[in-house]
Amino acid sequence: MRDEIRQLWRNLGRKKRTAWPRVEQGQYRSYRAVHPFDERFGVETSGLIYDLPTGHAHDVYNNGYFAVAPSVFHAVMGVMLERLHLEYQRFRFVDVGSGKGRALLLASDYPFREVIGVELSPELERVARANVARYAAAAHGSLLHRPPVISIQGDATEFLWPPGPLVVYMWNAFTSPVMERVFHNLGASLAEQPRELYLVYMHPELESMLASLPWLTMLWRDEITMSDEDYAAWAFPTRAEMCAVYQAVPSPGTAGVASAISH
Ligand SMILES: C[S@@+](CC[C@H](N)C(=O)[O-])C[C@H]1O[C@@H](n2cnc3c(N)ncnc32)[C@H](O)[C@@H]1O
Repeated sequence: MRDEIRQLWRNLGRKKRTAWPRVEQGQYRSYRAVHPFDERFGVETSGLIYDLPTGHAHDVYNNGYFAVAPSVFHAVMGVMLERLHLEYQRFRFVDVGSGKGRALLLASDYPFREVIGVELSPELERVARANVARYAAAAHGSLLHRPPVISIQGDATEFLWPPGPLVVYMWNAFTSPVMERVFHNLGASLAEQPRELYLVYMHPELESMLASLPWLTMLWRDEITMSDEDYAAWAFPTRAEMCAVYQAVPSPGTAGVASAISH
């Protein structure tokens, strides 16, 4: 009996913690379980997974897994190229909470210097690794040199930010305790080594937290409507995804970067 009560509490706690998007929207649609992207490239990136126990203390802040809509991802990359004239070759792309790696695969279609993902769940990260190998073999893009793709299993707060210019990408991976720590570390890394940084933040639930960082400026925020194909394989009722793009402000602001979030 005591075990049952304990389990009940655990489940209740879980429900309370998960702010995205099942509670917020309160309903599901029926949708195609396997995205055609997977069939096309022989990969496995589909699925809506909320329970991802790893034993890590940060499991409770995990918002769950679902992969980005390819049309939305490509639209954001297109806007970055158009508005920022982004020279991909100079930038490393980092997906914080990379799941089964769909965003890593999509990013590898651009000539980034390197594509890196960090994922808490060992199970998902294993799938991502296999996907990376399969996609490289299957994708016949126009790129002469595809960027190296590195998938890392670990907690985002323990991730060591790589040197050089960065495009940091995240899609509502975790709730604020992890988010704050991730941005504290990123701020510290920028203070130590000032460099160009753009942040692509999909479904930006914690944008008020980012607004408090003096070293980060929002460049734009747009709702992007996904393609018919993506929507048919989309679990949630809303067809448009909000996406915000930020830029790190160069020094002298960088001096205050590390202390901007106090711990
Ligand atoms: C919404 S999915 C996004 C997947 C992928 N980035 C994409 O756009 O297709 C968020 C992912 O973040 C991962 N995640 C949550 N908390 C994490 C943490 N503390 N460290 C690393 N990854 C985490 C989840 O396990 C999940 O796979």
